[in-house]
Amino acid sequence: MANLATISLILTISCLLAFTPDVYARKQGSVVEEDTSYFHEICSGNEKVLRLRFYVQDLGTAHPNTTVYEVATASITSTSPTSFGSIKVIDDKITEAPEDDSRELGRIQGVNTKSDLSVVGITISLNVVFTTGKFNGSTISIIGRNQFALAERELPVAGGSGVFRFARGYAIQTTHSMAPNVVVLEYNIYTTYNAKFVEPRDVEIAEM
Ligand SMILES: *[C@@H]1O[C@H](CO)[C@@H](O)[C@H](O)[C@H]1NC(C)=O
Ligand SMILES: *[C@@H]1O[C@H](CO)[C@@H](O)[C@H](O)[C@H]1NC(C)=O
Repeated sequence: MANLATISLILTISCLLAFTPDVYARKQGSVVEEDTSYFHEICSGNEKVLRLRFYVQDLGTAHPNTTVYEVATASITSTSPTSFGSIKVIDDKITEAPEDDSRELGRIQGVNTKSDLSVVGITISLNVVFTTGKFNGSTISIIGRNQFALAERELPVAGGSGVFRFARGYAIQTTHSMAPNVVVLEYNIYTTYNAKFVEPRDVEIAEM
């Protein structure tokens, strides 16, 4: 797993390269309006990398308080060994520790689509929604492929809002525990964020 120093170096390099596409775009006459203010912000050191760890309480469809609902299936789903075509909408609680009664940090909301005919592979489109602490109101958007049988699933961070505006990074999802109707997932997210709005020392749920 890449360490934070490596990621920071990559960020610095991408900073140096950030203006290059503009030059090509200008040559092609395709720039409608340039706004490089955010690049200045990134290059002036406000963009930093953060590691976030939290847990997700996934209460399955048979749980009395389920947070997962299947909204669609395909003609093949019931006979497919990989439940191909099943689409589920989720709104799982995010907690600070693995225990269900530990502090709630927010929700993870979105759509899981079983989209692999051979193995259980899920196309995910999820938003991490923080409802407390320094990130309250900010979101991180995660998309990608989740092959659940793997010990570690790497999921791309595709963007975000609030302090995570322009975010990029990745999440490592592992299964912390599995009980009947309750799966507890651990997420370690490595993402950029804008330190102008929140200092690392203020971030209770972060580890640098
Ligand atoms: C479901 O939620 C209710 C109300 O919060 C709670 O009393 C009950 O214990 C929950 N059921 C389970 C199985 O967790
Ligand atoms: C989070 O933000 C919302 C909307 O601004 C606010 O109503 C709520 O009180 C905040 N929660 C905490 C725990 O700060």
